[in-house]
Amino acid sequence: MSSSRCRALTDWYGHQARDLPWRHTTDPYHIWISEIMLQQTQVATVLGRYHGWFKRFPDIKTLASASLDDVLKAWEGLGYYRRARFIHTAAKQVVREHDGIFPRSFDGILKLPGIGRSTAGAIASFCFGQTTPVLDGNVKRVLQRWHGTSDTTDKRLWLWAQEAIDASHSPADWNQAMMELGATVCAPKNPACTACPVSTYCASAFWPETAAGKKKHVPVRDVHWLVALHTCPKRGIWLTRRPDKGIWAGLWTPPITELEQLPEHAPCHIHTLTHRRLHLYGVRQTGEPEGKGQWFDALDTVALPTGIHRLLQKRDINP
Ligand code: ADE
Repeated sequence: MSSSRCRALTDWYGHQARDLPWRHTTDPYHIWISEIMLQQTQVATVLGRYHGWFKRFPDIKTLASASLDDVLKAWEGLGYYRRARFIHTAAKQVVREHDGIFPRSFDGILKLPGIGRSTAGAIASFCFGQTTPVLDGNVKRVLQRWHGTSDTTDKRLWLWAQEAIDASHSPADWNQAMMELGATVCAPKNPACTACPVSTYCASAFWPETAAGKKKHVPVRDVHWLVALHTCPKRGIWLTRRPDKGIWAGLWTPPITELEQLPEHAPCHIHTLTHRRLHLYGVRQTGEPEGKGQWFDALDTVALPTGIHRLLQKRDINP
């Protein structure tokens, strides 16, 4: 890899990068949590949650000894709650197997639940200076465009990513710079090639559409849910825990049943997930609730999905 390309990119990163709090630390606990948050949540949202997490769980031991409900509550609104479960399990594993000290070796990091090769690469490079590449969606797109092809295997992309970081003299900055370029300049649509520090080395510069791989279209399925709203001035709202698998696994919601027949009226709220559009019909109930569940007179200790918070707001329910 051209060392001038390498310098052009890391110089640009040094001058132009966004000032993000996780770029001011090499502490593996902080980096780990930020990387997991950033996997599927936008930077702007993570910015609003980053410091709060560490106030609630200042270190791995505190996190490991918290209840899963507390961890899910702290994750509320970030989506993809599987990540919060993995974080909790991984924290317990770090305490059990590493005496509470985050592992330093790439293989040790990779063994933790919820951490794949790319996240392990980010942590090992940012915290311990190892030459382990990141290959998230943004970095993949940058590499594909540089090489002028969208028709590549992951194996080839990992090779390109490794070659590139091996040639850099600063693996941490290199990974950050690649992610920054993909997130800000080399965007999926309308990349800003005129502002790109490495356009002269890029096989697709000013012609990115020919090289950027189009994602496979996964259709969104509509589901229609009746949300049974039992409320009572003294006892609050009746909630049940969602099953361990599927949509909103393990979170608390009012009882939900899937509607076979669509109501004539519009849903109270529509909440869109990656592959599902949830049409939520909140219906006030008068009788006693049946089945497993609990009354909650406040919602500040229990993790509810954002879609349910929105529905309750629209129905003016605020226990
Ligand atoms: N997305 C994933 N990791 C990131 C990081 N370290 N900075 C900005 N965006 C990211």
